[in-house]
Amino acid sequence: MFFSPRLIAFLLAGLISGLTVAFLAFVEGVTRSMLFVVAVSSLITSFFLILFAIEILVFREVNKLYKTIHKLRMRDFSFSRSTIVKSNNPFRKLNDEIFVYVARKQKEIEELRRLEQFRREFLADVSHELKTPVFAAQGFIHTLIDGAIDDEKVRDKFLSKAAKSLDGLDALVKDLVALSQLETGEIKMNFGTVDLYQMTLEVFEQLENTANTRRTSLKIKANPPGSVLVKADPQRIAQVMTNLIENAIKYGSEGGKVQVSFEEEKKQYAVQVRDNGPGIPPEHLNRIFERFYRVDKSRSKERGGTGLGLAIVKHILNAHKSKITVMSKLDKGTSFSFKLDKAD
Ligand SMILES: Nc1ncnc2c1ncn2[C@@H]1O[C@H](COP(=O)(O)OP(=O)(O)OP(=O)(O)O)[C@@H](O)[C@H]1O
Ligand SMILES: [Mg+2]
Repeated sequence: MFFSPRLIAFLLAGLISGLTVAFLAFVEGVTRSMLFVVAVSSLITSFFLILFAIEILVFREVNKLYKTIHKLRMRDFSFSRSTIVKSNNPFRKLNDEIFVYVARKQKEIEELRRLEQFRREFLADVSHELKTPVFAAQGFIHTLIDGAIDDEKVRDKFLSKAAKSLDGLDALVKDLVALSQLETGEIKMNFGTVDLYQMTLEVFEQLENTANTRRTSLKIKANPPGSVLVKADPQRIAQVMTNLIENAIKYGSEGGKVQVSFEEEKKQYAVQVRDNGPGIPPEHLNRIFERFYRVDKSRSKERGGTGLGLAIVKHILNAHKSKITVMSKLDKGTSFSFKLDKAD
């Protein structure tokens, strides 16, 4: 290379040495041999000093750039933007800017990949869930067409089975529509004053049959006793209560207890739905609010679940600026809690 660091250092050193000698030549009493010594010594020292400075600047900083690129390749993004501002070294600034820029882009790419993965899984889940009831209904109807319709007993049985499958399909599609509308914010909440105590009693009534078949006792407790008036969308909050109480009955123990309790606080009511069932293993706890997530796939399926109930609960409560939390102990039971603002 023409402008190598050594050549630059040599030229600059020559210039310095030449200037020094030129100045010294005007001083009286300076001999030729003295000038020669000064010329050589200043040439050598300047050469090495300049070379050293260039090497430090280029090598050290370029090395840092390499390290940065290496770090980026290893996806180590432990770096804060505030450190850039402090540095005065332009090399360093450039280096840090590149780092932060690439790190941000990398994070964006990862987020997109995650969303893509999520979308793919979601599509697979939806088609799988839709397939089951459609195939079942299709099977029953084709058997009927193929001749089973002539036998009155079989006909009624198959027709009611087909109807049940289609009802399940209808419920699933409704849940999916509700979820996607909640997610896109399409559904506007109709806030009003709701008596949660009264509403829970109504939900108990609706779920009486399910509770009876599982011999589950349903209890309600309010502290202080009386009505529990909150600011909420009545239809949506009824859905929340239904989903939570239904889960507690379905996944609680046979012959177990389900208790809904309300605790008055300064500005809010704390709501808790508790059962004394087998509980949820800790590794599943933060995933049960995901769409289609079921702890025990075969067991919850046999109880008619699609794994959308808690995802809907989470979204509705989010729209109420509230958050659902879950606590569970194996063989002791599970409790779901959230808070709602008191009605004015
Ligand atoms: N009280 C509970 N005790 C033990 N496990 C529970 C309880 N509530 C929920 N689960 C677990 O969490 C999973 C997700 O619940 P979720 O309500 O979202 O779906 P699901 O009940 O299977 O279906 P869906 O509510 O849509 O009919 C359930 O399948 C169940 O395994
Ligand atoms: Mg459920």
